[in-house]
Amino acid sequence: MAPKSDISLFKVTLLLLLALFSFLSNATANSSPFEFLEHLKGCQQGDKVKGINDLKKYLHNFGYLNYKNYIHSDDDDFDELLEEAVKTYQLNFHLKSTGTLDDKTISQMMMPRCGVPDIVNGTTSMRSTQKHRHGSIHTTVHYSFPNGKPKWPSSKYHLSYAFFPGTPSQATGAIAQAFATWARSTHFKFSQAQNYQNADVKISFHRGNHGDGRNFDGPGGVLAHAFYPTDGRFHFDAAENWSVGAKPGAYDLESVALHEIGHLLGLGHSSVKGAIMSATISPGVTLKSLHGDDIQGIKALYNV
Ligand SMILES: *[C@@H]1O[C@H](CO)[C@@H](O)[C@H](O)[C@H]1NC(C)=O
Ligand SMILES: *[C@@H]1O[C@H](CO)[C@@H](O)[C@H](O)[C@H]1NC(C)=O
Ligand SMILES: [Zn+2]
Ligand SMILES: [Zn+2]
Repeated sequence: MAPKSDISLFKVTLLLLLALFSFLSNATANSSPFEFLEHLKGCQQGDKVKGINDLKKYLHNFGYLNYKNYIHSDDDDFDELLEEAVKTYQLNFHLKSTGTLDDKTISQMMMPRCGVPDIVNGTTSMRSTQKHRHGSIHTTVHYSFPNGKPKWPSSKYHLSYAFFPGTPSQATGAIAQAFATWARSTHFKFSQAQNYQNADVKISFHRGNHGDGRNFDGPGGVLAHAFYPTDGRFHFDAAENWSVGAKPGAYDLESVALHEIGHLLGLGHSSVKGAIMSATISPGVTLKSLHGDDIQGIKALYNV
């Protein structure tokens, strides 16, 4: 009898341990969709590590890797193309452009961010394309525009926006504040419309796959995205812990809205850290006013 019960006790203990382990690993996996990056610290060209293919997806999503003609897109090989992509990423975020996934690069990549790619169709006007002058990178202009500089026609400076029916009034109030902030510093005027279908800008909250090919990823990771002119779609990830004002562990709706409106008007991401158009944001902070870089960007784009 004794050996048998020892064995079942062992089995029960093992099962409990397995259950605990899977609970813990799920808990960490759920903490952020970018958590996988933590395990890639120190990786560089020539390495083959599980999770590199997720890094490739990440860099593809944000415009740093073009999957067209990229035969290694689905494996864990840290090849030359991936190294190039990491170097460009590092330049855009003011990091030492080594191509190695050092601690600072991983921390930057793990920050919650906007889902709009930093690079559209292989070109970036973020820091990496700034001309080298006297051996150092020239860093006076940081705002960017996507290829083709899509913008609203000059006669269309008064835009209407509307919320998907049922959007809570706390959310609509915070987002309306963000439109008012842009109106104060640019030639644009905004007014809230009741008719969702006919509005220039259509605002809605979604989870996961919501039909535009840019799936949301649950709590953390990508927080929101918006489309360049004159599309007008403006989407928030409904899975985020949204707040009105600075609350620990939550994302301030007005701050994120301020950023996305920049895309709706035609701005790409800026490499200036304090700019509203910088791609990342931390939980618990609020950004209530535009940076000179954001305003200069709009002035340059609309020639005003
Ligand atoms: C990027 O390229 C695709 C395909 O060539 C094109 O349809 C799209 O308009 C381009 N996007 C921009 C912003 O230039
Ligand atoms: C969501 O934000 C609230 C307000 O700060 C905070 O108390 C809570 O812990 C956050 N929840 C998560 C899951 O982070
Ligand atoms: Zn953005
Ligand atoms: Zn969307």
